[in-house]
Amino acid sequence: MKRRQFIKNTSLSGIGVAAASPFMNYLNLPIMQKSEPVCIATWNFPNASRKAGEMLSTGALALDAVEQGVMVEEADIRNTTVGRGGAPDREGNVTLDACIMAPNGDAGAVVYLKNNTHAVSVARKVMEETPHVILAGEGADRFALEQGFEKEELLTTNSEKAYKEWLKTKEYKPIINIENHDTIGMLCIDSKGDIAGACTSSGLSYKMNGRVGDSPIIGSGLFLDNEVGGAVATGMGEAILKSVGSFLIVELMRQGKSPQEACEIAILRIVKQNPNYKDFQAAFIAINKNGEVGSYCIQKGFSYMDFRNGENKNFPSKYYI
Ligand code: GLY
Repeated sequence: MKRRQFIKNTSLSGIGVAAASPFMNYLNLPIMQKSEPVCIATWNFPNASRKAGEMLSTGALALDAVEQGVMVEEADIRNTTVGRGGAPDREGNVTLDACIMAPNGDAGAVVYLKNNTHAVSVARKVMEETPHVILAGEGADRFALEQGFEKEELLTTNSEKAYKEWLKTKEYKPIINIENHDTIGMLCIDSKGDIAGACTSSGLSYKMNGRVGDSPIIGSGLFLDNEVGGAVATGMGEAILKSVGSFLIVELMRQGKSPQEACEIAILRIVKQNPNYKDFQAAFIAINKNGEVGSYCIQKGFSYMDFRNGENKNFPSKYYI
């Protein structure tokens, strides 16, 4: 889609757009206008974007807003792909992956976290309290306990029941769009104009034990640069990992592409790399520092939330197929 067309569409759909095309400064960086506070998030998770958006409206920092926004979904046991209530692996373990990024470029992540609902908060502690970026498995669980997180059971009555049903066939076939619930990735711009992001997931249902997806991997599931903007991913982690798509999108925006153009290029890379692209979903959303938003995915059915000026809206994404 042409940039002009995108801007026209987004204006009509109520997404605020501050500037059509960034000018380049002497470092070849786009010069961005300051956006109003805004939260965008993958899928139709209105409670999460409302939580973060309302925090931003009262002056909260983007980092606090993304953490508390995605925590809403981590705690919702009806969501079978994030936090407590997430579907287990083939051996019955619920294992969580999450990451968080701050405006100054700091990042923290956990992979294969087994005993805590709020993987994003443990990831934030990794970022703030350790010299590392990623903690995995037993070390991540032990670190969470040391940081005062209480041990929790992540397998719920419903997820255990579904797992026992799955054991009857043991068929491993990821379901496209998983009833429209998948990883939550969120990006917020606060009243100071700073951007932060978070991404959290229980990963693919009935994955192999030890499997880690894109969600906790900086550059794949999430990337941001406070000079440019940010991007987050959802869908088939293996395809997203191979594309390093969130990093790609931010770098494309740095070169002057709109968020929409950048998301489309990243999805086209995935399509080109994966002959079986019709069998899975992959999606990106992105925002630049102007508050201009883009979204693109392979299959119909993906949507994203946008909270700004007190309005919490869900928009269907454009798609490749
Ligand atoms: N996008 C989540 C995962 O594949 O684990």
